[in-house]
Amino acid sequence: MKRAAIYPGTFDPITNGHLDIIERALRIVDTLIVGIAKDTTKSTIFSFEKRSELVEKSVECLENIDKERVKVIPFKGLLTEFAKKQGAVIIIRGLRAVSDFDYEFQMSGMNNKLDPNIETIFLPSIESSQYISSSFLREVARLKGDISPFVSKCVADEIKKFYKY
Ligand code: COA
Repeated sequence: MKRAAIYPGTFDPITNGHLDIIERALRIVDTLIVGIAKDTTKSTIFSFEKRSELVEKSVECLENIDKERVKVIPFKGLLTEFAKKQGAVIIIRGLRAVSDFDYEFQMSGMNNKLDPNIETIFLPSIESSQYISSSFLREVARLKGDISPFVSKCVADEIKKFYKY
């Protein structure tokens, strides 16, 4: 049986930490759907369309993956509904530190209540990604610091354009 999973997020913007999770998730599932959420509790700096475009471009830049097995799909509404529509019963989420756990645990429980067929699989971040977050990245960029170690080149270019440096 072919297994499809969703890797959902706000991706504001997508970082190398997210890309690492995408690469590793592809080792355990056949198809990975990277779902960019329109409905998120966060106030984002990039529009839904731009966040989706940056995810698409960053995945395109990955060299060591079978791109045929990755789909980048923006979605509106509930994640569980989106998963059902895509025929996926697995949600992949990255865990960077213990501090991520409470939120992720609650979210996986709620998603499982909304659709008992859905299971969440957590992948631990690699060490070099453990301190990366989209909000720290935005803060460094706002203060015109070097963001190139944390994002793909296309994302770095867009961020620099946004913060005018
Ligand atoms: N490496 C680096 N950073 C990582 C990471 C990794 N492996 N894994 C997570 N992060 C960081 C992100 O950079 C981001 O940082 P920030 O909080 O500073 O912005 C944070 O951890 C998580 O962001 P992201 O990965 O984009 O996910 P999210 O928590 O914003 O995603 C959704 C939340 C989209 C999954 C959730 O809002 C959702 O499902 N929305 C749809 C509506 C819905 O169904 N709601 C009910 C949910 S129960």
